[in-house]
Amino acid sequence: MTNHSSNGLPTPPHYDTVSRFLHWTILALLISEFTIAWAMPEVEKDTRPDGLIAWHLFFGTLILTVVLLRILWRFTHPVPESVPMPRWQELSAKITHKLLYVVLFALPLMGWANASSRGWDVRLFGTISLPAMAPKGSNWGHALGDVHHAVAIGLLVLIGLHVAAAVYHQWILRDGLLQRMLPPRSP
Ligand code: HEM
Ligand code: HEM
Repeated sequence: MTNHSSNGLPTPPHYDTVSRFLHWTILALLISEFTIAWAMPEVEKDTRPDGLIAWHLFFGTLILTVVLLRILWRFTHPVPESVPMPRWQELSAKITHKLLYVVLFALPLMGWANASSRGWDVRLFGTISLPAMAPKGSNWGHALGDVHHAVAIGLLVLIGLHVAAAVYHQWILRDGLLQRMLPPRSP
Protein backbone atom coordinates (compact mmCIF):
# COMPACT_ATOMS: atom_id res chain seq x y z
CA MET A 1 0.00 0.00 0.00
CA THR A 2 1.31 3.51 -0.79
CA ASN A 3 1.86 5.85 2.18
CA HIS A 4 0.33 9.30 1.94
CA SER A 5 1.49 12.62 3.37
CA SER A 6 -1.01 14.76 5.24
CA ASN A 7 -2.12 16.59 2.04
CA GLY A 8 -3.17 13.24 0.61
CA LEU A 9 -0.33 12.98 -1.95
CA PRO A 10 1.86 9.84 -2.00
CA THR A 11 5.03 10.34 0.08
CA PRO A 12 8.13 10.96 -2.05
CA PRO A 13 11.01 8.43 -2.00
CA HIS A 14 13.15 8.33 1.18
CA TYR A 15 16.86 8.92 1.55
CA ASP A 16 18.70 5.62 2.14
CA THR A 17 19.39 4.42 5.70
CA VAL A 18 23.06 5.49 5.70
CA SER A 19 22.27 9.05 4.52
CA ARG A 20 19.54 9.38 7.15
CA PHE A 21 21.78 8.00 9.88
CA LEU A 22 24.64 10.37 8.96
CA HIS A 23 22.26 13.36 8.66
CA TRP A 24 20.82 12.98 12.18
CA THR A 25 24.17 11.92 13.71
CA ILE A 26 25.74 15.17 12.48
CA LEU A 27 22.87 17.15 14.03
CA ALA A 28 23.46 15.42 17.41
CA LEU A 29 27.23 15.94 17.20
CA LEU A 30 26.80 19.63 16.32
CA ILE A 31 24.51 20.20 19.31
CA SER A 32 27.24 18.69 21.55
CA GLU A 33 30.01 20.66 19.83
CA PHE A 34 28.27 24.06 20.10
CA THR A 35 27.34 23.40 23.74
CA ILE A 36 30.98 22.59 24.56
CA ALA A 37 32.28 25.57 22.51
CA TRP A 38 30.15 27.99 24.50
CA ALA A 39 30.86 26.35 27.87
CA MET A 40 34.64 26.04 27.44
CA PRO A 41 36.97 28.72 28.81
CA GLU A 42 38.13 31.56 26.55
CA VAL A 43 41.18 30.36 24.59
CA GLU A 44 44.11 32.70 25.38
CA LYS A 45 47.76 32.76 24.33
CA ASP A 46 48.94 30.27 26.97
CA THR A 47 45.78 28.15 27.27
CA ARG A 48 46.39 24.39 27.31
CA PRO A 49 43.96 22.08 25.47
CA ASP A 50 42.59 20.43 28.62
CA GLY A 51 39.11 19.74 29.99
CA LEU A 52 36.28 21.08 27.84
CA ILE A 53 38.75 22.33 25.21
CA ALA A 54 40.02 18.74 24.80
CA TRP A 55 36.37 17.66 24.37
CA HIS A 56 35.92 20.38 21.73
CA LEU A 57 38.85 18.92 19.77
CA PHE A 58 37.53 15.37 20.33
CA PHE A 59 34.05 16.16 18.96
CA GLY A 60 35.50 18.44 16.26
CA THR A 61 37.70 15.71 14.78
CA LEU A 62 34.82 13.23 15.11
CA ILE A 63 32.53 15.62 13.19
CA LEU A 64 35.18 16.03 10.47
CA THR A 65 35.36 12.21 10.10
CA VAL A 66 31.58 11.77 9.92
CA VAL A 67 31.24 14.69 7.47
CA LEU A 68 33.91 13.15 5.20
CA LEU A 69 31.98 9.85 5.25
CA ARG A 70 28.78 11.73 4.45
CA ILE A 71 30.33 13.59 1.51
CA LEU A 72 31.86 10.34 0.20
CA TRP A 73 28.47 8.59 0.48
CA ARG A 74 26.73 11.54 -1.20
CA PHE A 75 29.07 11.44 -4.21
CA THR A 76 28.59 7.72 -4.68
CA HIS A 77 24.83 7.45 -4.09
CA PRO A 78 22.10 9.22 -6.01
CA VAL A 79 19.68 11.53 -4.17
CA PRO A 80 16.11 10.24 -4.54
CA GLU A 81 13.72 12.47 -6.45
CA SER A 82 12.27 15.24 -4.24
CA VAL A 83 8.73 16.62 -4.01
CA PRO A 84 7.62 18.92 -6.85
CA MET A 85 8.47 22.55 -6.06
CA PRO A 86 8.96 25.87 -7.87
CA ARG A 87 12.33 26.43 -9.55
CA TRP A 88 13.46 29.07 -7.00
CA GLN A 89 12.89 26.69 -4.11
CA GLU A 90 14.73 23.88 -5.85
CA LEU A 91 17.64 26.22 -6.51
CA SER A 92 17.78 27.64 -2.97
CA ALA A 93 17.65 24.11 -1.51
CA LYS A 94 20.54 23.07 -3.79
CA ILE A 95 22.63 26.10 -2.82
CA THR A 96 21.90 25.73 0.92
CA HIS A 97 22.75 22.00 0.90
CA LYS A 98 26.02 22.60 -1.01
CA LEU A 99 26.98 25.42 1.39
CA LEU A 100 26.18 23.20 4.38
CA TYR A 101 28.57 20.52 3.08
CA VAL A 102 31.33 23.07 2.33
CA VAL A 103 31.02 24.78 5.73
CA LEU A 104 30.79 21.47 7.63
CA PHE A 105 34.06 20.43 5.99
CA ALA A 106 35.95 23.76 6.20
CA LEU A 107 34.97 24.69 9.78
CA PRO A 108 36.82 21.83 11.58
CA LEU A 109 39.88 22.37 9.33
CA MET A 110 40.05 26.02 10.45
CA GLY A 111 39.79 25.00 14.11
CA TRP A 112 42.51 22.41 13.52
CA ALA A 113 44.81 24.99 11.87
CA ASN A 114 44.25 27.35 14.80
CA ALA A 115 44.99 24.57 17.31
CA SER A 116 48.20 23.66 15.43
CA SER A 117 49.33 27.29 15.36
CA ARG A 118 49.05 27.21 19.18
CA GLY A 119 51.37 24.18 19.22
CA TRP A 120 48.58 21.83 20.36
CA ASP A 121 48.73 18.16 19.46
CA VAL A 122 45.40 17.52 17.68
CA ARG A 123 44.41 13.88 18.12
CA LEU A 124 41.71 11.96 16.27
CA PHE A 125 39.23 10.52 18.81
CA GLY A 126 41.62 11.83 21.48
CA THR A 127 44.21 9.16 20.60
CA ILE A 128 45.76 9.24 17.09
CA SER A 129 48.05 12.29 16.65
CA LEU A 130 47.23 14.17 13.46
CA PRO A 131 49.76 16.23 11.47
CA ALA A 132 49.88 19.97 12.18
CA MET A 133 47.63 21.95 9.82
CA ALA A 134 49.62 25.14 10.38
CA PRO A 135 53.14 25.75 11.69
CA LYS A 136 53.40 26.60 15.39
CA GLY A 137 53.20 30.38 15.84
CA SER A 138 51.93 30.98 12.29
CA ASN A 139 49.98 34.22 11.80
CA TRP A 140 47.46 32.76 9.38
CA GLY A 141 46.76 29.82 11.70
CA HIS A 142 46.22 32.31 14.51
CA ALA A 143 43.89 34.49 12.38
CA LEU A 144 41.82 31.44 11.46
CA GLY A 145 40.67 31.25 15.12
CA ASP A 146 38.43 34.31 14.61
CA VAL A 147 37.34 33.08 11.18
CA HIS A 148 36.49 29.67 12.74
CA HIS A 149 34.28 31.44 15.28
CA ALA A 150 32.56 33.61 12.62
CA VAL A 151 32.01 30.66 10.26
CA ALA A 152 30.48 28.64 13.14
CA ILE A 153 27.89 31.43 13.53
CA GLY A 154 27.38 31.36 9.73
CA LEU A 155 26.71 27.62 10.01
CA LEU A 156 24.01 28.31 12.60
CA VAL A 157 22.36 30.79 10.21
CA LEU A 158 22.41 28.22 7.38
CA ILE A 159 20.95 25.55 9.68
CA GLY A 160 18.26 28.05 10.71
CA LEU A 161 17.26 28.60 7.07
CA HIS A 162 17.35 24.86 6.42
CA VAL A 163 15.14 24.05 9.41
CA ALA A 164 12.74 26.90 8.50
CA ALA A 165 12.37 25.37 5.02
CA ALA A 166 11.73 21.92 6.55
CA VAL A 167 9.08 23.41 8.88
CA TYR A 168 7.45 25.27 5.93
CA HIS A 169 7.21 22.03 3.95
CA GLN A 170 5.97 20.06 6.94
CA TRP A 171 3.31 22.39 8.33
CA ILE A 172 2.39 24.81 5.53
CA LEU A 173 2.79 22.80 2.31
CA ARG A 174 2.31 19.41 4.01
CA ASP A 175 4.00 17.73 1.09
CA GLY A 176 5.76 14.93 3.02
CA LEU A 177 9.27 16.33 2.37
CA LEU A 178 10.40 15.71 5.96
CA GLN A 179 9.44 12.04 5.60
CA ARG A 180 12.30 11.71 3.13
CA MET A 181 14.78 12.06 6.03
CA LEU A 182 12.81 9.74 8.37
CA PRO A 183 12.50 5.94 8.34
CA PRO A 184 9.77 4.67 5.96
CA ARG A 185 6.53 3.90 7.83
CA SER A 186 5.51 0.27 7.72
CA PRO A 187 2.39 -0.26 5.57
C1 HEM B 1 31.98 21.45 13.20
C2 HEM B 1 32.88 21.44 14.18
C3 HEM B 1 33.15 22.64 15.06
C4 HEM B 1 32.31 23.63 15.54
C5 HEM B 1 30.81 23.76 15.30
C6 HEM B 1 33.12 24.54 16.32
C7 HEM B 1 32.64 25.68 16.96
C8 HEM B 1 33.41 26.58 17.64
C9 HEM B 1 32.94 27.81 18.23
C10 HEM B 1 31.47 28.29 18.22
C11 HEM B 1 33.99 28.44 18.82
C12 HEM B 1 33.99 29.78 19.56
C13 HEM B 1 33.85 29.56 21.04
C14 HEM B 1 33.71 30.88 21.78
O1 HEM B 1 32.58 31.38 21.92
O2 HEM B 1 34.74 31.44 22.18
C15 HEM B 1 35.16 27.61 18.60
C16 HEM B 1 36.43 27.90 19.02
C17 HEM B 1 37.53 27.10 18.81
N1 HEM B 1 37.55 25.86 18.18
FE1 HEM B 1 36.00 24.98 17.27
N2 HEM B 1 34.42 24.08 16.33
C18 HEM B 1 34.48 22.92 15.57
C19 HEM B 1 35.59 22.14 15.33
C20 HEM B 1 36.85 22.38 15.84
C21 HEM B 1 38.03 21.55 15.62
C22 HEM B 1 38.07 20.26 14.78
C23 HEM B 1 39.06 22.14 16.27
C24 HEM B 1 40.51 21.71 16.39
C25 HEM B 1 40.97 20.53 16.07
C26 HEM B 1 38.55 23.34 16.90
C27 HEM B 1 39.30 24.22 17.64
C28 HEM B 1 38.86 25.40 18.17
C29 HEM B 1 39.72 26.37 18.83
C30 HEM B 1 41.23 26.24 19.04
C31 HEM B 1 38.90 27.44 19.22
C32 HEM B 1 39.34 28.75 19.88
C33 HEM B 1 39.58 29.73 18.74
C34 HEM B 1 40.03 31.09 19.24
O3 HEM B 1 39.38 31.65 20.15
O4 HEM B 1 41.03 31.62 18.69
N3 HEM B 1 37.20 23.46 16.61
N4 HEM B 1 34.78 26.49 17.89
C1 HEM C 1 15.91 19.80 13.03
C2 HEM C 1 16.88 19.84 12.16
C3 HEM C 1 16.80 19.38 10.73
C4 HEM C 1 15.73 19.01 9.95
C5 HEM C 1 14.25 18.98 10.33
C6 HEM C 1 16.25 18.64 8.64
C7 HEM C 1 15.51 18.17 7.58
C8 HEM C 1 16.01 17.81 6.34
C9 HEM C 1 15.22 17.29 5.26
C10 HEM C 1 13.71 17.07 5.30
C11 HEM C 1 16.05 17.07 4.21
C12 HEM C 1 15.65 16.53 2.83
C13 HEM C 1 15.46 17.68 1.89
C14 HEM C 1 14.97 17.24 0.54
O1 HEM C 1 14.33 16.21 0.45
O2 HEM C 1 15.22 17.94 -0.45
C15 HEM C 1 17.38 17.46 4.62
C16 HEM C 1 18.49 17.42 3.82
C17 HEM C 1 19.73 17.85 4.19
N1 HEM C 1 20.08 18.30 5.44
FE1 HEM C 1 18.87 18.54 7.03
N2 HEM C 1 17.62 18.81 8.65
C18 HEM C 1 17.98 19.25 9.90
C19 HEM C 1 19.27 19.53 10.33
C20 HEM C 1 20.37 19.53 9.51
C21 HEM C 1 21.70 19.89 9.93
C22 HEM C 1 22.10 20.29 11.36
C23 HEM C 1 22.51 19.77 8.85
C24 HEM C 1 23.97 20.03 8.74
C25 HEM C 1 24.59 20.97 9.33
C26 HEM C 1 21.69 19.35 7.72
C27 HEM C 1 22.16 19.15 6.45
C28 HEM C 1 21.41 18.67 5.40
C29 HEM C 1 21.92 18.48 4.07
C30 HEM C 1 23.35 18.77 3.59
C31 HEM C 1 20.86 17.97 3.30
C32 HEM C 1 20.90 17.61 1.82
C33 HEM C 1 21.09 16.15 1.61
C34 HEM C 1 21.46 15.91 0.15
O3 HEM C 1 20.55 15.81 -0.68
O4 HEM C 1 22.66 15.84 -0.12
N3 HEM C 1 20.39 19.19 8.17
N4 HEM C 1 17.32 17.89 5.93
